[in-house]
Amino acid sequence: MTRMPYPSGALLLAPLSGYTDLPFRTAARRCGARFCFTEMIDAAALVYARRRTERMLVRGGGEDWLGVQLVSNSAEHIGAAVDILNGYDFDLLDFNLGCPVPKVVKKGAGAALGKNIDRACELFGILAERSRTPVSCKLRILDFKDPEPTAEIVRRLVERGACAVTIHGRLAEDFYSGPVAFPVIEACAAAVDAPIIANGGIMGRGGFEAAKVGVPSAHGFMIARGAMGNPWIFRELADGAEFVPPTIAELVAMAKLHVGEMLRFYGEAKGSALARKIVLDYFRGRGFNGEWRGKAGLLNGETEFMDYLDSAARNHSADYWKTPPVDRRLAATV
Ligand SMILES: Cc1cc2nc3c(=O)[nH]c(=O)nc-3n(C[C@H](O)[C@H](O)[C@H](O)COP(=O)(O)O)c2cc1C
Repeated sequence: MTRMPYPSGALLLAPLSGYTDLPFRTAARRCGARFCFTEMIDAAALVYARRRTERMLVRGGGEDWLGVQLVSNSAEHIGAAVDILNGYDFDLLDFNLGCPVPKVVKKGAGAALGKNIDRACELFGILAERSRTPVSCKLRILDFKDPEPTAEIVRRLVERGACAVTIHGRLAEDFYSGPVAFPVIEACAAAVDAPIIANGGIMGRGGFEAAKVGVPSAHGFMIARGAMGNPWIFRELADGAEFVPPTIAELVAMAKLHVGEMLRFYGEAKGSALARKIVLDYFRGRGFNGEWRGKAGLLNGETEFMDYLDSAARNHSADYWKTPPVDRRLAATV
């Protein structure tokens, strides 16, 4: 019998390089996320530059479930990295077979490995044998129409011990754009006796409903870009029609907490550099003045960030309230 790493219907925060660090996950957890992943960790980086990579493995005191994701195309690095990871505190180890970024694919890892079924299964076997935690995989579909190639790799990874498989319903060549092949994910979910997590295009309630209808056999759903600047998506998907988006004051309060944690976590210089894009994400698509938003790219240090965030309400356009309410990601203050 397959061990179930998540309850049925679980909503997962995806691994996102450059995003899902402890401050990002903390923001998502404030809005109800429970199953959260670290950023993808390169096995060689963990083995040869452990101190630099270790920060990605910091688990917060309030994190009751944490998944770690590894990427590599080297048996030697994977073995050594898993031995190191066995000394850290987390709940599940995921293997990345879907990253399409050239720097990763060039090394035969990520999506390149996901297309090389024999090698992917061989390397995943090392993970499964050596890991002290349950192991899972995350991959992309291999054909947009024919489910069989994807179902085959999923089946074989499950035979090798995958306790769950997340399927991103886009081809590697399509990166993050275009439609999601729900029928392929559904066929895979029906083909294996293991939990399949559907991923792709869940940016809000509409996308979630489409995913639920498209993949009725999904055990859970993974949210990625929909959580950037919008940790409330977890509350929105859980609450359905009852959901009330944040007010400007709540948006600013969340952004302040998130940025403050980043500055403490990374130190002021690195934290400032990383927090700029996070601030831009919070204020994207919510009716804030474009010129004001652009200034986020110049912020440095706690005082500048906090003063900037305090000026948000003054830089919001009244026209925003004229857009159809269904598209709004802000609630008016009454
Ligand atoms: C900036 C960025 C970073 C990502 N980093 C990772 C990663 O580290 N590991 C991974 O498996 N997928 C990664 N992904 C892919 C997402 O986890 C997810 O599969 C993809 O974005 C599709 O979901 P979405 O349509 O909900 O965004 C990344 C995507 C983006 C946009």
